[in-house]
Amino acid sequence: MGNRRKRTVIAGNWKMNMTPAQAKELVSQIYSKVKGRKACDIVVCVPFVDIPVVASMVKGSIIKVGAQNVHYEKSGAFTGEISADMLKECGVQYVIVGHSERRQYFGETDKTVNLRTLAALEAGLRVIVCVGETLADRESDITREVVARQTKLALENVTAEQMKNVIIAYEPVWAIGTGKTATNEQANEVCGIIRQVVADKYGKVLAKSTVIQYGGSMNAKNAEGLLSMNHIDGGLIGGASLKPDDFAAIVLAAQE
Ligand code: PGA
Repeated sequence: MGNRRKRTVIAGNWKMNMTPAQAKELVSQIYSKVKGRKACDIVVCVPFVDIPVVASMVKGSIIKVGAQNVHYEKSGAFTGEISADMLKECGVQYVIVGHSERRQYFGETDKTVNLRTLAALEAGLRVIVCVGETLADRESDITREVVARQTKLALENVTAEQMKNVIIAYEPVWAIGTGKTATNEQANEVCGIIRQVVADKYGKVLAKSTVIQYGGSMNAKNAEGLLSMNHIDGGLIGGASLKPDDFAAIVLAAQE
């Protein structure tokens, strides 16, 4: 433990926060604190309307831009949706798919998570697929089944080549935005289960190099412990990603 022997990805999920002007300010603060840090990949997943300003600011830097959702059709009569090609052209490199808030409030299903994943991969985006159990699932002792099923279904028809562009974020729903974090051991155990699902489908080598993040109230204080666990290769960070000092501290923790 403690050896960051492989790629680590720290991604901020801004959710529905920050107007373009506020985004500009936040990114410049983050940039001033993380520049020169090369040991992990840094991504900011921003609201759609913030993408142009953020993409132009971070172009060529160590910060990459992500979106928070993508539609699975290439174009057409889908009012209010955004396609993978649109994101690509705006400089987006990563996209979050299947966040629990989308599953909970916007009718996202395992099927649509899979379709969005495939569309994004086809367009050459990197996908951060979110999986995670609810409190009721954990209390019923079905965390393993729930997370394994979500992972398997999200990866249907994803080729081994495409899998290199997939990150899986383990986000226990009960830990998101609640200030309750999974313990290092709880988080590591489930990330290990996810890695096993990937290994069963794609083999051990690919599973080993797959980035598996933890998300759910990760912050400047608990990041180091979580990131030191052998199955945790990064974080998907909500609340703390809006605070430049905290986000930078997590990036720093990922390098140790
Ligand atoms: P949180 O959000 O860090 O605020 O818990 C994480 C997420 O929803 O990705």
